[in-house]
Amino acid sequence: MSFRWLPASLLMSAGLLLLTALPNLPNAWREAITAIALGTILLALYFARRVYLRYTALREHATQLRDQIETLNLELTRQQRRRLALIEHMPIPLLICDEDAMLRHANRVALEWFGFRYMTGKSLLALTFSYDLYLLMLKAARRQSVVSGEITFSFPKERQAEATIWYLGEADSRHLFAIALIDKSELVRLEQVRRDFVANVSHEFRTPLASIRSLAETIHDDPEMPHATRQRFLNLIVQEADRLTRIADDLLSLTRAESMTPVKEVFELAPLIQQAVQEMEAEAQRHQVQLHAEPTPELKLLANRDQILQVLLNLLSNAIRYNKPHGSVAVRAYAHDTHAVIEVADTGIGIPSEALPRIFERFYRVDKARSREEGGTGLGLAIVKHIVEAHDGTVEVESEYRVGSTFRVKLPLFIEAP
Ligand SMILES: Nc1ncnc2c1ncn2[C@@H]1O[C@H](COP(=O)(O)OP(=O)(O)OP(=O)(O)O)[C@@H](O)[C@H]1O
Ligand SMILES: [Mg+2]
Repeated sequence: MSFRWLPASLLMSAGLLLLTALPNLPNAWREAITAIALGTILLALYFARRVYLRYTALREHATQLRDQIETLNLELTRQQRRRLALIEHMPIPLLICDEDAMLRHANRVALEWFGFRYMTGKSLLALTFSYDLYLLMLKAARRQSVVSGEITFSFPKERQAEATIWYLGEADSRHLFAIALIDKSELVRLEQVRRDFVANVSHEFRTPLASIRSLAETIHDDPEMPHATRQRFLNLIVQEADRLTRIADDLLSLTRAESMTPVKEVFELAPLIQQAVQEMEAEAQRHQVQLHAEPTPELKLLANRDQILQVLLNLLSNAIRYNKPHGSVAVRAYAHDTHAVIEVADTGIGIPSEALPRIFERFYRVDKARSREEGGTGLGLAIVKHIVEAHDGTVEVESEYRVGSTFRVKLPLFIEAP
């Protein structure tokens, strides 16, 4: 309601009051006009008051509404900030882009993944260098629904990831999509390791089983076989069966070293080295190899005694078996900072440099025939590595082909509380 009628009615009342000033106006008319003028003024004042009250109420209401809008705006900004913080701190790469695959946002992990420090209006393709992800994004834009797929990224390093893209809705008349990436490289690698392991184990078992079978068949098919030949074949069967047992035992040791936290005790290293050398003495003589241990200083370890003995035996048996006749093997141990260092050095056949990075792998053998001849399963060094690492130690090797090798094991020393 406007106030425009107020001056009009006041003017009209003033006009009426002026009329009463006419000299020859009958008294009855004058009184009537005065009454009408006063009535109009009263009415105008009454309505003016009502309008004023209404106006004040409306103004109050408007103020309240403005406050509410401000609170809502604040809450909205807070929510947007929370959502951005959530996206920003997600431990997986998250990207937001529009239907033309132009990026709107990339969280910290996503930028780290692709080796960028800032995201300044890049396209998805320019950030990820992945045409496959770009195509998947266009597919999501076409369908406006969730799509996912396996993507291999090659920049800045090779990664296998599962990408999931979903529609977020509209903003500034553009359709927005979120892209989440889950790194599967480690899983893919582990799956490959598992497949290789199963293939290797079955291969290792198959060879002795095949020879046992063919030897047994030969004996079975030839009842007239000379006694000496039969004995030789039977000995071979026993040897192959022993080999199968060794593989099974080694696999068990490996699984134990991998899956169980070692039960530790405090012990002196010197007697353990003595014990290992004594146990390998006969083997060394058979191979015409000189085996000697240098005097060991007092070194205490907090470790699983049996497992450390196995480490020593495996290293010594390699040093003896992959040696030359009249070669030698030396064991020494010393303290270095907070660690005990055990070195097993031989004057053996050495390891070619290209094979060095692989010798700790399960079933890896430089010379398969020689290792098999020696009864090797190819698991000895894998067991060493697992045991040493389960004790927070390290194992390394230096080798010169045809000259000799030195294996160096470092284990944390037991330090008594002062
Ligand atoms: N001291 C060494 N000198 C030369 N080659 C070595 C030496 N130690 C290990 N190797 C090479 O590394 C390979 C892997 O050794 P590892 O001890 O794991 O298996 P293995 O000796 O063949 O069998 P296992 O120890 O299980 O009976 C060996 O086959 C051998 O080729
Ligand atoms: Mg070995």
